[in-house]
Amino acid sequence: MAMRQTVFTGTLLVVILVATSLNSVLGQADFGYGCREADLPNEIRRDCHPEPNASEGACRERGCVWCDKTETWPGFPACFFRDAIYEPPGLTCDTGYHPALDRVDCTTGDEPIDEMSCRYRNCTWCPSLPNANIPWCFQSAALDNTGYQVVGQPVNTTNGIVINLSKTFNNGRRFWEGEASSLIFEAEFQSDYRLRVKITDGSPRFEVPLEIQPASGGNANPLYEFQFTPSPFSFRVVRRSTGTVLFNSAAGKLSFADQFLSMTWNLPSENVYGIGENEQRKFKHDFSERMEWPMWAADQPPYHTTALYGTQPHYTVIERDGNVHAVAIVNSNSQEWHIIPGPMIKYITIGGIFDMYFFLGPTPDDSVAQYTEAVGRSQMPPYWGLGFQLCKYGYDNLTEMQAAVDRTEAAGIPHDVQYGDIDIMHMELDFTVSEDRFGGLPAYVQELKAKGIKFVTILDPFISIIEGPDYRPFTLGEQMDVWVKKADGTPVTGRVWPRDQTAPVFFPDYSKPSCQEWWRILIVEFQQLLAFDGLWIDMNEPANFDSGDSNEGCAANRWNYPPFKPGFSTQNLAEKTICPDHVDNVSIHYNTHSLYGWFESKPTLVGVREATGKRGLVLSRSTFLGSGKWTTHWLGDNWSRWSNLHYSIIGVMQFNLWGIPYVGPDICGFIGYSNADLCQRWMELGAFYPFSRNHNGKGNIDQDPAVWGPAVAASSKTALEVRYTLLPYLYTLFYKHATGGSAVFRPLWYNYVSDSMTYPVDEQFMWGSGILISPVLREGATSVVTYFPDNRHFDYYTGNEITTRMGTLTLAAPKEVINVHLAGGNIIPTQEHARNTEAARNNPFGLTVVLNDAGSASGSLFYDDGEGIDTHLNGQYFYVEYSMMSGSLTSTVVMDGYPDMATKTLGTIRLLGFGPVTSVTVNGVTTSFTQKPNGEVNLTGLTLAANSEFTIVFS
Ligand SMILES: *[C@@H]1O[C@H](CO)[C@@H](O)[C@H](O)[C@H]1NC(C)=O
Ligand SMILES: *[C@@H]1O[C@H](CO)[C@@H](O)[C@H](O)[C@H]1NC(C)=O
Ligand SMILES: *[C@@H]1O[C@H](CO)[C@@H](O)[C@H](O)[C@H]1NC(C)=O
Ligand SMILES: *[C@@H]1O[C@H](CO)[C@@H](O)[C@H](O)[C@H]1NC(C)=O
Repeated sequence: MAMRQTVFTGTLLVVILVATSLNSVLGQADFGYGCREADLPNEIRRDCHPEPNASEGACRERGCVWCDKTETWPGFPACFFRDAIYEPPGLTCDTGYHPALDRVDCTTGDEPIDEMSCRYRNCTWCPSLPNANIPWCFQSAALDNTGYQVVGQPVNTTNGIVINLSKTFNNGRRFWEGEASSLIFEAEFQSDYRLRVKITDGSPRFEVPLEIQPASGGNANPLYEFQFTPSPFSFRVVRRSTGTVLFNSAAGKLSFADQFLSMTWNLPSENVYGIGENEQRKFKHDFSERMEWPMWAADQPPYHTTALYGTQPHYTVIERDGNVHAVAIVNSNSQEWHIIPGPMIKYITIGGIFDMYFFLGPTPDDSVAQYTEAVGRSQMPPYWGLGFQLCKYGYDNLTEMQAAVDRTEAAGIPHDVQYGDIDIMHMELDFTVSEDRFGGLPAYVQELKAKGIKFVTILDPFISIIEGPDYRPFTLGEQMDVWVKKADGTPVTGRVWPRDQTAPVFFPDYSKPSCQEWWRILIVEFQQLLAFDGLWIDMNEPANFDSGDSNEGCAANRWNYPPFKPGFSTQNLAEKTICPDHVDNVSIHYNTHSLYGWFESKPTLVGVREATGKRGLVLSRSTFLGSGKWTTHWLGDNWSRWSNLHYSIIGVMQFNLWGIPYVGPDICGFIGYSNADLCQRWMELGAFYPFSRNHNGKGNIDQDPAVWGPAVAASSKTALEVRYTLLPYLYTLFYKHATGGSAVFRPLWYNYVSDSMTYPVDEQFMWGSGILISPVLREGATSVVTYFPDNRHFDYYTGNEITTRMGTLTLAAPKEVINVHLAGGNIIPTQEHARNTEAARNNPFGLTVVLNDAGSASGSLFYDDGEGIDTHLNGQYFYVEYSMMSGSLTSTVVMDGYPDMATKTLGTIRLLGFGPVTSVTVNGVTTSFTQKPNGEVNLTGLTLAANSEFTIVFS
């Protein structure tokens, strides 16, 4: 702190202190709904307990707000949802728009003020939300004309417009050093659905080397209209079909200084999702008070508003009419996103340029597809990667690892992947295996493979420099000159895991081609020692247990101590990492820090593929826009706490909107002791993460699913068997992502965007459009309040139809049960489960046909060898579409490029929602069936070749 103050001018210091104190206040606030919501106008309450005798307990059980002011406001509900769609009148003033940030307070701050005394001061009176730190009595921001102005004529380019801007400074005084007096603003109409806005100051500045793929279809009929106001300059993006202003930068000042860039804009609704990576505790942002979300890749466990491992400057908005758009800002500098009542966003970054992409949707699926088309879609995971995975940091030796594997096997719990953490290394050195504690591991890995279990191991991005000439990672690295350098050209030294955190280490510069090659060579050679199937790249923020350089700290300069430091922590930019003024092949670390894991990802995948000859899997802790092309992600060092079940759903939904669908948290929690009740519910929920891995921190009691005794083992087994049964559906969803960009693990609104009741739902989620999962997230609960959107739903286990629609239902959820429902209109391919996917892949397939109101359903199945590289691009796959209408179920084979499909069978059909059946024919031949009183019909023992086309008629 003292060091920082020395570089501030007096004015700046005030700004920082305000930000800091706000931060600390927010840090202690309760972010759940509270009775402060009582201050909201009655019009925005929606009754959550329409039946009589509402009580606080019953209300909270439904996840709603309890605020009994029925005496003050008779007739208005005490138990309610906040309806965020409706913006009450009076929040904006009829005198024009008054953005919060540029309101100059007319009061001393604390004095009570009313409209009359405000007007007496010749100030504007414009009430805002209470307690939002926004002055109600202020001088109009419009009086401040110190913004940028358009100079000259805007130039129409082939695909857009270029506008020159300039700004004059009073007596030449700039608020921020290097504040630009002229800017070049470019809007590029890349396609009907994609708009790019780029603002530079004309000087060479850092730009993220992210390859944006071209959009398709031309821009003859754009979904948007680009508008601007010349003085002070601001721009708007308007949805043409509705006139909705999606983005209006008039909400605040545009700042463009060397190390401070800021823009504030209005949003068309409060239904905003994304911005990360942070531990968000509500999926939908809460605009009732100001929140700050910082980004700067950090090796630190989630503490709500602190920065985490990745930088994902991307958000999605559901507009008031249900149209959806997404915005991504391609900037890797340390940055801060403020959520401000209005609703508005204030964006601050301390380097680079403004490079913004607007994806116009208009459906949720379109918005994800359009974004992932630009930055690249995720690899298909290997089929085995969809199985259950087990890991622990702190297996002391091979015996302990084997004991966990054996327990899992003895309990009959499906298990596809075993992990080794840094324990397996010799002295925590990359590319080694400990002789004394894990000497038998290479042979054990072969034993596991024989049983159908794969092995993934860990690599950290630090290389010990004191191992002598036999440690090839270092000697080869020296030869190939692969390290991040200090400004003087010598390698940066840090200290992380190697030799029990004592060895000095160098940091590979993955942005450098020779380093990528070095890494690839080592990975391929490592395969000879340990036959891994995938790699897990950890600590790649990059972490450093010294802050800055081990010997010297960080030099006192503007990169290491910038004039404005986003509020991700109380320390400086180098905290637990290397100095911002260090140099890599692309730029200074100040610009590329948050890209470190991103640069490491591609060479790791290249290495894994060459080493294994297969599709492989790379799991990375740090991510950036487009990381999904090469890696998947886990949510980091979470906590063994009940709250983390809820946060994990939010995190996985966010990454699905960010085009990285194969994601999950550490099941049962990483930090702290787990316990049987927590782990039981978490294993049940965990069976429905796209990436399903139980992982534990060192020194904690074991938490593998079989260690807690028969009850937890049994419910883990049951939940995972449901997962394994549904894997063909999950795998097909990944194919749909890889080819069309769709999210796999979805919020309810993704499928029901016209139903605003789905917007706040974040304790339930869906797989694709077909499966609704409603886990228990609270200690001791044996029921779960479930929202059912406007569709038919059937209980997965009983086949019973739910009659509730667009409403909540409290469902029984005994300890051993996770509620799963099938949604009308879907045909879900299944396969009988087994101990692992290698075995399950030989079992018969099934189809679960879930009819909608019209009595129809459709679906598809993608299947291949599960491990070949790019099979979906090379035609080496099987793809079939299923459809049911008017009692007739048919299949249409679209691609028959996986020969083994002919050796597999389709064994069962489960039909839900048809009604009484009297006869069934399969390809014209009458076939027997069973039917339950609830109408569920089963055909079993079919022997159709899995790649055959068929017609099955129910009547
Ligand atoms: C009050 O504000 C108006 C509009 O800005 C201005 O014209 C007028 O002179 C002001 N009056 C006083 C007393 O300051
Ligand atoms: C640029 O294009 C816009 C919209 O087509 C048009 O209104 C404007 O006159 C053009 N400006 C110039 C300088 O050609
Ligand atoms: C493995 O580690 C455990 C726990 O430290 C210890 O009790 C056990 O003796 C070790 N086994 C072997 C074979 O080293
Ligand atoms: C159909 O099969 C499912 C799954 O095997 C089973 O749970 C259900 O009871 C069966 N229904 C009938 C009518 O046999």
